[in-house]
Amino acid sequence: MPRIAVIPGDGIGVEVIREALRVMEVVAGRHGLDLEVTEWDLGAERYLREAVTITEDEFRSLRDEHDAILLGALGDPRVPGNEHARDILLGLRFRLDLYVNYRPSLLMDPDLCPLRGEPRIDLEIFRENTEGVYVGMGGSFKKGSPDELAVEEDVNTRKGVERIVRAAFEHASSRGRARVTMVDKANAMPAAGGLWRRVFREVSEEFPDLEVEALHVDAVAMDLIRRPERYQVIVTSNLFGDILSDLAAALTGGLGLAPSANLHPGRHALFEPVHGSAPDIAGRGVANPLGAISCVGLLLEHLGAAEPAREVREAVVSCVREGPRTPDLGGAASTGEVGDRVVETLSGGRIEPSPTTG
Ligand code: NAD
Ligand code: IPM
Ligand code: MN
Repeated sequence: MPRIAVIPGDGIGVEVIREALRVMEVVAGRHGLDLEVTEWDLGAERYLREAVTITEDEFRSLRDEHDAILLGALGDPRVPGNEHARDILLGLRFRLDLYVNYRPSLLMDPDLCPLRGEPRIDLEIFRENTEGVYVGMGGSFKKGSPDELAVEEDVNTRKGVERIVRAAFEHASSRGRARVTMVDKANAMPAAGGLWRRVFREVSEEFPDLEVEALHVDAVAMDLIRRPERYQVIVTSNLFGDILSDLAAALTGGLGLAPSANLHPGRHALFEPVHGSAPDIAGRGVANPLGAISCVGLLLEHLGAAEPAREVREAVVSCVREGPRTPDLGGAASTGEVGDRVVETLSGGRIEPSPTTG
């Protein structure tokens, strides 16, 4: 039986994961999928209460005794240094070596796109997830003084670049995509850019049917707004992928809709919406749960449950198109009402009310 660890986390993470779990339960039930789901109290509350972020035993259990992790979001204004998020979220990404951060953006309804002309957007970002400026190499010198110096090294290894580039090509090739775009800043950062471009060219030779291009991140940020429909698979570094995936989310309806998968293929998988804990709306029951619900689709697909995954994807599209919608999509529905709608679609008309809608 697949074992799934659920970490709701902080802020709206808790609210959206509540709906995601209802969806997982109903779709698993319909398909006779037995899932062992356990909820984990990892987040700001626990950190503030016990001064513990994540223990070694917890980390080992997540690593060795689970088939997938579903995470809401981590981040709390009461923890301004974000220590717990660094240990838990970045800790899991690094220590489980989840080198693929897969972030798809699909425009499900043209009226959600802020651009003119109703472009067709269906792109997938492969964000390197274990290197770059996220590694924490560097530090501060003379902190707080007028001579303060801050260093944040950008680490790019041959192996690290090659495995994410290869993952992007393999995905593009197996999904019938036509083009892979590599994004860097080789004109200003020639050491990293040189490595990325060389590796990208070498790996591309194994995929002669795919069209390839290497572009600068500033130009891509501009071009994603000018003609997003031309982008299919984008592969890039940790920081550029972080930024471009928020941009891509905004083009397709906003952060509330965007799911992601953090993967070490064949070993570990962690699914989380792209958004954070949104302290500005937390506790009001208005967060959009569809990004988190789409993570359930990615998770089921990862477990080999292709049909349940497809149903979740379609239920999300139908909810986006027909409503109800949360305020971020221009509606007035609550998180629970959107969850209700998805559950209703998936259960063919029968509905168990959300704990938040009563
Ligand atoms: P955020 O994604 O939390 O919020 C950005 C904006 O998008 C806010 O206005 C928010 O209200 C809105 N938004 C986000 N998700 C939404 C949803 N599901 N429905 C409706 N609106 C939504 O980003 P932020 O404000 O930069 O960060 C807040 C905290 O979350 C910080 O502590 C940050 O470090 C953390 N964070 C965590 C993750 C994660 O755990 N994966 C990701 C991003 C940010
Ligand atoms: C994300 C988030 C994280 C990141 C933060 C919370 C460290 O923005 O998952 O996109 O930058 O990776
Ligand atoms: Mn981000």
